[in-house]
Amino acid sequence: MFSPYESLLRPLLFCVDPETVHEYALHALSVVSSISLAPRSAPEPSLRREVFGLTFPNPLGLAAGFDKNGIAIPALAALGFGSVEIGTVTAVAQPGNPKPRMFRVPESEAIINRLGFNNRGAAAMAERLEILRRSTQWPAIPVGINIGKSRIVPLENAVEDYLTSLRLLREHGDYFVLNVSSPNTPGLRSLQDPAALGPLCATLRQELAQKPLLLKIAPDLTWKEVDDILATAESNGISGLIATNTTVDHSNIPASLRTQGGLSGTPLRDRSYEILKYIKTRSRFPVISVGGIMNVTDALARFDAGADLIQLYTGFIYRGPGLIARICRTLLERQQGSNALS
Ligand SMILES: Cc1cc2nc3c(=O)[nH]c(=O)nc-3n(C[C@H](O)[C@H](O)[C@H](O)COP(=O)(O)O)c2cc1C
Repeated sequence: MFSPYESLLRPLLFCVDPETVHEYALHALSVVSSISLAPRSAPEPSLRREVFGLTFPNPLGLAAGFDKNGIAIPALAALGFGSVEIGTVTAVAQPGNPKPRMFRVPESEAIINRLGFNNRGAAAMAERLEILRRSTQWPAIPVGINIGKSRIVPLENAVEDYLTSLRLLREHGDYFVLNVSSPNTPGLRSLQDPAALGPLCATLRQELAQKPLLLKIAPDLTWKEVDDILATAESNGISGLIATNTTVDHSNIPASLRTQGGLSGTPLRDRSYEILKYIKTRSRFPVISVGGIMNVTDALARFDAGADLIQLYTGFIYRGPGLIARICRTLLERQQGSNALS
């Protein structure tokens, strides 16, 4: 059965260029964020999760890339997300790749994007977050900040570049994510190699002191590469993993619809699920599972496979905000059911 979003609103939104819709939606959410939002009903205690030292009112978060500049956090929290990850932000403000750079693939319930970290830079984000923190609008959910490498900075200076962003933003985020897995910044994924990853993690860990520092990985890694990342993350104080970013493997969508960029949504589901299971059998890292979670069944499967938290992006675009409540409601019913049995 289709929700009102899917049967009424989505057909209208999908008539318009995806990035334009995104900008309008985000603008609307940022306007809503500046007015006093009615408090949501009290969070359900049994949905609460304690992960890497933070309390999440529910385990369903918004993935990075939706609110790259952190302009709509209160409204996104009011939609029911239990956490919001903003960014990817870079030390140097940058326009991203030429448009068009975001494409829907409705036949496969997918999106391809090659945005290339378009954002206003870490200093502008810090200024905005400081104002928000001082206002009454800061939400009662963890806010993660996802950091990437500025495009103009050469790979050999990546550590300094990430460090610049972290120093500007460390007071403002509840957890931080090193994004070394976007396919749209040339060479970025090579930072997943242990020789580059070790110094990056160690330096940022030291700078951040106690706050959680996570690593967001690609779905296109071999198992050996995942093992190497786990070992490097473990010896350099990483608090958890986010698996996964978008994929460069487009074999799951019709050839005529392929275009350069990272693919998300249903075609990514199985690979993201496999990576979650693999990490959970090989390590004790908390994992935020993301990639192809399009409905309640997908969400439950991730928790059954050991996900500590999950995130949505493409499922949110295709199913609308109603998906958040549906997942939380089902989780709650399942927990109440198992409590009744025990
Ligand atoms: C349009 C778009 C922009 C994205 N931008 C970012 C980004 O800036 N940083 C990041 O770490 N991930 C980014 N992602 C990846 C998502 O956070 C997520 O990892 C990926 O889309 C898989 O989840 P999904 O299948 O639920 O969309 C982006 C995804 C999309 C669709």
